[in-house]
Amino acid sequence: MGKENETSETPGGFKLAGFSSFVRSNPRSDRFKVNRFHHIEFWCTDATNTARRFSWGLGMPIVAKSDLSTGNATHASYLLRSGDLNFLFTAPYSPSIASMDNLSHTATASIPTFNHETSRGFSAKHGLAVRAIAIEVDDAELAFTTSVAHGAKPSASPVLLDNRAVVAEVHLYGDVVLRYVSYGNSESDDSDPGSWFLPKFEAVEAASSFPLDYGIRRLDHAVGNVPELAQAVNYVKEFTGFHEFAEFTAEDVGTSESGLNSVVLANNEETVLFPMNEPVFGTKRKSQIQTYLEHNEGAGLQHLALVSEDIFRTLREMRKRSAVGGFEFMPLPPPTYYKNLKSRAGDVLSDEQIKECEELGILVDRDDQGTLLQIFTKPVGDRYLQNFFDFIELYSLGLEFMYGFIGLDSFESIYHYLISLNKF
Ligand SMILES: [Fe+2]
Repeated sequence: MGKENETSETPGGFKLAGFSSFVRSNPRSDRFKVNRFHHIEFWCTDATNTARRFSWGLGMPIVAKSDLSTGNATHASYLLRSGDLNFLFTAPYSPSIASMDNLSHTATASIPTFNHETSRGFSAKHGLAVRAIAIEVDDAELAFTTSVAHGAKPSASPVLLDNRAVVAEVHLYGDVVLRYVSYGNSESDDSDPGSWFLPKFEAVEAASSFPLDYGIRRLDHAVGNVPELAQAVNYVKEFTGFHEFAEFTAEDVGTSESGLNSVVLANNEETVLFPMNEPVFGTKRKSQIQTYLEHNEGAGLQHLALVSEDIFRTLREMRKRSAVGGFEFMPLPPPTYYKNLKSRAGDVLSDEQIKECEELGILVDRDDQGTLLQIFTKPVGDRYLQNFFDFIELYSLGLEFMYGFIGLDSFESIYHYLISLNKF
């Protein structure tokens, strides 16, 4: 860890070493076996429209569904998938539909933790936002009981689905839950979403005449904004056993502007990364994290980092659709940024690639581990500063070798971008 005189104290009395003094170590302290990110669930008020917009904007086909057509009278859910990345969009049906058949409101639900009242309250409070970060664990029941025994606030007790999968949830931050998913057997039938996603989901036939794939392959990190970092980090660390992977303090990116402190937690394999940010007060401009907390009505998910296997292709496809139902990106960096790029990265990127970075507005971050190509979208819904995507390609190391390339340049880029957006 950093020397005592280099630490920075957070408003909650938490001592952070900061980026340059932080010494990374992996104590392999997970309390239960965590395999990978499984899916991200967005709660919305109309899943058909929301899923289609994200499908088109991100190049992620809708691959499975659970709705009225599959016998689910409780909620409509559509699953988008690209590589290992799974996004689920869920909206409630009228609660009276199920009761007409003398069924309980949730009798036909495929997501057993779904609750009408919670879902409606969530959407009223947060707009379109992430409800669940789901991770695949070896044993969801064990993960749940272990978590609760170590202080996690339970949200939904373990439910066994079709003798094949177990789902359970604990509170993560704000109204976001950490969902544990595990599978009871290893039979995998590619045509059956029940074996690779969840039972009661049905496959949606691929629209082969219009294949969608812009190159997105997996989730790298899921970032939360919280009012107080010490409390949030200690809470999650205690019940998961995750270790600190990186730290950033307001000093790392300059205190003259609005600031934040940040800690990244990781599992043993460092494949599940949870960065969390808190606002720093008393600076010239209001912290963008504080602005987020006001617009989101409390803690919640700030952004998702998506790894592309070819960020140039992903960006070309996405930019074509920005104005026609897709997603928009941060403003282009100044031309001087790309003039300096040849001297900074000319040994890794060809002249053609540097030109393409400039045309597409891609940022380049280097350190001793490799090169990262990166760009941020604007926030994807109505709410200010809430829920955007951070596209990354781990250029020189390849997709499979590296997780969590959250270097200081990359952190500064996002910080300055948010400051530029934070007009309030
Ligand atoms: Fe990020």
